[in-house]
Amino acid sequence: YWSVDKFVDKLENYPQIQQAADLLSKNEVVAFPTETVYGLGGNAKDNQAVEKIFAAKGRPSDNPLIIHIAGQIQLTDFVEDISAHAQLLMSRFWPGPLTIIFPLKKGFLSSKATAGLETVAVRMPDHPVAMAILKASGLPIAAPSANRSGKPSPTTALHVKEDLDGRIAGIVDGGPTGVGVESTVIDCTSEIPVILRPGGVTKEQLEEVVGEVHVDPALADEKEAPKSPGMKYRHYAPDAPLYLIDGTREDIQRLINEQHREGRKVGVLTTAENEAFYDADYIYACGERDRLETVASSIYEALRSFNKQDVDLIYSEMFPNEGVGNAIMNRLLKAAGQRVIKG
Ligand code: TXA
Ligand code: MG
Repeated sequence: YWSVDKFVDKLENYPQIQQAADLLSKNEVVAFPTETVYGLGGNAKDNQAVEKIFAAKGRPSDNPLIIHIAGQIQLTDFVEDISAHAQLLMSRFWPGPLTIIFPLKKGFLSSKATAGLETVAVRMPDHPVAMAILKASGLPIAAPSANRSGKPSPTTALHVKEDLDGRIAGIVDGGPTGVGVESTVIDCTSEIPVILRPGGVTKEQLEEVVGEVHVDPALADEKEAPKSPGMKYRHYAPDAPLYLIDGTREDIQRLINEQHREGRKVGVLTTAENEAFYDADYIYACGERDRLETVASSIYEALRSFNKQDVDLIYSEMFPNEGVGNAIMNRLLKAAGQRVIKG
């Protein structure tokens, strides 16, 4: 476990970064911060390294990993073709929280990293620690979020420790991540790009660059089969059942009162604006409603915090389904197993 100050100069010369890069070169797995969430990195060219990632997370092997790179030049090793849309998106959003799906050029990466698919997901993270490790290792690094499968993604090194202590070779602590939700995944193998997972880059931002953008219908309708394998799993769930309340704070308080009469303890996920309004057993104020990026940056910390509280169930407010609110609502609905109560 090494702590690194992301603001120091020449980070790539720091021994902690070198140690992490050495472990990756030896096909060990190491957690490190990105601007979205902490990732669990491994050499994407090596089957055994990739197997260690799946084993540490308890992740189903049919769910492919995102390949992290430090420079676009690395794409020539394992990407068959870069479309005009993909090029525009890379120029505008890399480094940054956008993962692009390309046609895979076979033979270079471990086929376990791509789960045997004909396509590959790639991103260039916008975080000095992640970039320093990628550069020092010189490898394409497969890195899913560094949580146990099904748990909320980790936004601090402590979250990683809670989930993976003893299961991985190391954790590089670079402080809390910024964006707080994972990268947006966009498929650029079709004529019109398709968002497979909403995330740190919004649909509105993408449309400014490439015009029309489609959204995988599975994101709006749980009966559709998602094109991104990872989107079909239950995810991000706290231990106590979570319900999203489509109503006012008065509706939520009324539901809390009903639960209290039955003798149950209730947690509430709200924002700074409404925090003082509620009478409940545990209240988590997650950012500010009128600045949704502050909600995104603490949503996973919020979900994890309920596991340390004695609550029988959790009620959450809902958020506008626009901008980064797309990603927040997508994660909350998954965490709630799609349970929404009309207030
Ligand atoms: O922000 C992020 O993207 C973080 C940080 C660590 O970079 N990583 C992350 O990885 O969220 P992970 O493994 O938790 O999520 C990867 C998602 C999954 O939903 C997976 O199914 C999808 O990307 N994916 C990977 N390769 C794909 C492909 N070829 N086609 C469609 N979806 C793919
Ligand atoms: Mg994940």
